[in-house]
Amino acid sequence: MPHDPVRTDLVHPLLANRFSPYAFDPSGRVDDDALHTLLEAARWAPSAGNSQPWGFLSARPGEPDHARVLPHLAPSSFRWAKDAGLLVVALTRHYVGDSPVLYSEFADYDLGQAVAHLSVQAEAMGLATHQFRAFDLEALTKELRPNPGWAIVSMIAVGKAADEPPRLRQRRSAYELRTAPWSTSAE
Ligand SMILES: Cc1cc2nc3c(=O)[nH]c(=O)nc-3n(C[C@H](O)[C@H](O)[C@H](O)COP(=O)(O)O)c2cc1C
Repeated sequence: MPHDPVRTDLVHPLLANRFSPYAFDPSGRVDDDALHTLLEAARWAPSAGNSQPWGFLSARPGEPDHARVLPHLAPSSFRWAKDAGLLVVALTRHYVGDSPVLYSEFADYDLGQAVAHLSVQAEAMGLATHQFRAFDLEALTKELRPNPGWAIVSMIAVGKAADEPPRLRQRRSAYELRTAPWSTSAE
């Protein structure tokens, strides 16, 4: 896979500079205004039929929900996520009957876009994000007991990065993105 650095002359610095840190500064707080702005960014993401099938739980160190979420992280994510100023649990639902779309096959896709909005907004605010799935889904669902139809999909650690992006960041080439899905045969 190519190791080329991200081209900041081509890609907006908010996208080029974003990376998922493996260390957060425990002193990096996310205050109420910042939390509100991050959720506001997620809120304005596009979604199929404007169904907005996303939902979130926010938990900051010292808040009761933080203590509920933390024990369900896998050791691999606990190591760094425990120091983040904010943990967000991201949920989606496929049945969105209170919107023009009864059932959305795009619910996960739409949640991803909302989280991408949140991530870029965070970057603009000098906050780093690290999305992760390394947690006990069953145990966390039991703990948080979301309403029927809602499913936890992922989590996002948000805070002040305490490490640098890796020197080599691998990405498939743009050429591969355009060619991989297609057969080269003339048939
Ligand atoms: C849905 C999703 C799940 C992820 N799960 C994990 C995880 O469990 N543990 C982890 O360390 N990183 C996880 N990541 C982060 C990716 O590994 C990371 O985004 C990828 O390696 C690219 O690195 P970058 O974000 O620094 O560009 C996840 C990312 C996404 C979008």
